[in-house]
Amino acid sequence: MADDPVSAIGELFASEGAAEYLGEPVSQAAHMLQAALLAERAGARPALIAAALLHDVGHFTGTVTGHDLMRGTDNRHSHQGANWLAQWFGPEVTEPVRLHVDAKRYLCAVEPGYLARLSPASVYTLGVQGGPMAGDELAAFQASPYAQDACQVRRWDDDAKDPAVTPPAFEHFASLLGALVR
Ligand SMILES: [Fe+2]
Repeated sequence: MADDPVSAIGELFASEGAAEYLGEPVSQAAHMLQAALLAERAGARPALIAAALLHDVGHFTGTVTGHDLMRGTDNRHSHQGANWLAQWFGPEVTEPVRLHVDAKRYLCAVEPGYLARLSPASVYTLGVQGGPMAGDELAAFQASPYAQDACQVRRWDDDAKDPAVTPPAFEHFASLLGALVR
């Protein structure tokens, strides 16, 4: 792995990220780049663009992989990814990543029509990840200072699966990422 973080992350996008689809019509690299593009077009601040760009890296950084998730074992990729990213980035980047699966579970519970917009793969993994939130989980999620950011990343995530969209290359976001490294 490259020594500098932006190069190390770029290598992930170029290798496993470009090769893995995990049940979606676009590669995981294209998916994350599309999410970042949506964040950029929405005028999001750099940390949230970075969170959108990096939200699924945990499929590739843990011992339990995205393939395992698609076979029914929760790989906790949001936590894996956030913990991996925390070696370089602060909570404004890592915590929306950590909470983006919980944001799906939260939005399924509180927003009518949200679940119907999810891709088939996302509906499948929802079940593996615990299903819609209920009870105390809802209040605990709402209490997080990063809950809103996580929901925002989640919506870009859900919309970032369009095979007709050609996102910018990873390098487009390299300087933004580099400026966020602590
Ligand atoms: Fe995603």
